[in-house]
Amino acid sequence: MNQRFKDKRILLGVTGSIAAYKACLVLRLLQEEGAEVRVVMTRAAREFIAPLTFETLTGEEVVEGLFSARRIERTRHIRLAEWADGILICPATANLIAKVAAGIADDFLSTVISASRSPVIFAPAMDLEMARNPIYQSNCRKLADLDYRFVASGEGFLASGATGPGRLADPDRIIDGVATALLKDSRWAGKRVLITAGPTREQIDPVRFLSNRSSGKMGYALAEAAFLRGAEVTLVTGPTFLRAMEGIAVHRIETASEMAGQVASLFPASDMLIMAAAVADYTPAEPSDQKLKKDEANLTLSLSRTDDILTRAAGDKGGRIVVGFALETRDGELHAREKLKKKNLDLVCLNNPFEEGAGFETDTNRITLFARDGTEKCLGLLSKKDTAERILDEVDRLLAGGG
Ligand code: CTP
Repeated sequence: MNQRFKDKRILLGVTGSIAAYKACLVLRLLQEEGAEVRVVMTRAAREFIAPLTFETLTGEEVVEGLFSARRIERTRHIRLAEWADGILICPATANLIAKVAAGIADDFLSTVISASRSPVIFAPAMDLEMARNPIYQSNCRKLADLDYRFVASGEGFLASGATGPGRLADPDRIIDGVATALLKDSRWAGKRVLITAGPTREQIDPVRFLSNRSSGKMGYALAEAAFLRGAEVTLVTGPTFLRAMEGIAVHRIETASEMAGQVASLFPASDMLIMAAAVADYTPAEPSDQKLKKDEANLTLSLSRTDDILTRAAGDKGGRIVVGFALETRDGELHAREKLKKKNLDLVCLNNPFEEGAGFETDTNRITLFARDGTEKCLGLLSKKDTAERILDEVDRLLAGGG
């Protein structure tokens, strides 16, 4: 399990919406990822869900009113505000958002928020007309301009029976929103990171193509990990079923030549390139405009070489970091070291699709890293998310001048 919130203290504010019951799941996910969580509920929230639920899940008293603490403790709101590395309001009602936007601090939760210097993240939930209300929307804009964060509500089936905007975002997206706000890393903040992912498709005729088994999971995990460290991430992706995290700029391509075009235009303004895509080395020399008809004879396809995108970019990389992958079924170490040198790379991530839990179409990978300073690190069997973190840690070492 990813421990993104290890050593982080998160205050979960629950306000009076029917979505309050979903806050329990969000709380569990935060804890599973290592966070220490305390809960503050508004009076209205207690109409929807009992404080005992949160007290059982956190082992801590849930505070409600400014003056209702069971233990006498002076300036408790200030101490709680200082304690929290981040405050998540989930669900956040239009009323709470309006109060914070107006600087009102008339209950325990709004007082803690006004006393906090840590990131505050709102996960709003309300009925569709309330979500469309221009006063609510202007309050959100005002808060966003003041660097408050939002995990935008989604569209869907609402408690009123209507369908539309206002539904609390999925718990996973809320957790990602908290991670984005909390886990900024100074070395990555503002870094422009270009990542490629997925397979390419090379057209044979209008209904057929040559491709490979790449799922894109490794590249998407890298994009997400870099984004959560504070980088500005651009993802150039071949066809996959994956959805990139909100905030990542996505360019969708099909062919190796389209990917080459995108990388050539985006690389000069980037600080780093990570080529995780499985780019076709060959493309049909003469793709047909019409569907090929079969006849008695065998069909021979003539293929021409595609450009090596990585070699081209790294040849002119200046001070940029360039990371490549090496997918090898034999003599991996030898080929990985060769690719590191020949392609002028800073880091090569070697994997072997024949090894159990590695390569395409899995949620895990087994990667060995070869850095430009000659160091070699075997990461072993890890989830692709954890593998992505370890690859970025290695890049971190290179950025810090450690290689
Ligand atoms: N790559 C690329 N452009 C290509 C082919 C590959 O940029 N036309 C990149 C891949 O994204 C990967 C690295 O090159 O980061 C190595 O890809 P791999 O398929 O392992 O090796 P190749 O260089 O294609 O060589 P070979 O297939 O002969 O092993």
